[in-house]
Amino acid sequence: MSAFPVTRLRRLRQSGPLRDLVRETSLSVDDLVMPLFVAPEALPNERLPGLQRFTVDGVVAECEELVRLGIKAVILFGIPETKDEEGSGAWIDDGIVQQALRALRPRFPELLLTTDVCLCEYTSHGHCGVLADSLNGSEHIDNDASVELLARTAVSHVEAGADVVCPSDMMDGRVAAIRELLPQTPIVSYSAKYASAFYGPFRDAAGSAPSFGDRRGYQMDPGNVREAIRECELDVAEGADVLMVKPALPYLDVLRAIRDRFDLPLAAYNVSGEYAMLKAAAAAGDMDERAAVIESLTAIRRAGADIVFTYWAKEFAGWL
Ligand code: PBG
Repeated sequence: MSAFPVTRLRRLRQSGPLRDLVRETSLSVDDLVMPLFVAPEALPNERLPGLQRFTVDGVVAECEELVRLGIKAVILFGIPETKDEEGSGAWIDDGIVQQALRALRPRFPELLLTTDVCLCEYTSHGHCGVLADSLNGSEHIDNDASVELLARTAVSHVEAGADVVCPSDMMDGRVAAIRELLPQTPIVSYSAKYASAFYGPFRDAAGSAPSFGDRRGYQMDPGNVREAIRECELDVAEGADVLMVKPALPYLDVLRAIRDRFDLPLAAYNVSGEYAMLKAAAAAGDMDERAAVIESLTAIRRAGADIVFTYWAKEFAGWL
């Protein structure tokens, strides 16, 4: 490459149309998935400004608006009326997510309905799996028993109308268990899901904070990236269709590492803490929200994500 003064990189930055023409990373509503919380009662979400818990009727009305704005995919989370040790609200036929799916499916044939498959919103203890007594007497999460219940949950979502299931529990072998029961259903696996402080607002919204201990026994250690590759290798072998990294912004290097090694579509979850942080900064007048959101989502895409799960999907669609 010839150097200055022959080469002047500012030449291509002179105008909006030129910059648009040479931009390497695109961002469109086609890439985004909007998370929705469904609960027996509507509730504004104090920790996630602008978002709320919807009733089944409310979620139908919200999806009408989302479809009108051009949103093509949503992910449903459920907050059940009651919680129990096994998280039975996750898989029962008339669970809250199942009710929402039955209401949405016939009304929105074109809207992609994806579901988060996990037990933490449904268990009384708030862990992503069921408890077992370990040899030393302290409680821990029983991997294989949990996997069975997670697979049951995925099946009940598909029976109620889900197009895609997204297991987010981080138990070993859950993709294989779901794949065996659902050979035709796309699985978006939360493959590299880290034990992160950035889920704080979500747990508050979903009432899913663990009542004892933490999730470090099943979610990944934030220091690890080679382990993320191993998680992805296993998910591919078990039959996942799409890999996911979560959270997104603090883990852009993980997205890049996975993008470089795997040819599967890659998703990133721009989580509640990332959303709340930027909302707070914008509310304090520290940043221009729209510019910061577009920059963040572009960075996630540039790092290698094809798909971004983000609470900004609706607002972003409204800006276009
Ligand atoms: C369920 C689940 C969580 C999130 C997505 N699925 C919570 C958690 O693992 O604690 C987090 C989403 C967010 O913070 O926006 N396991």
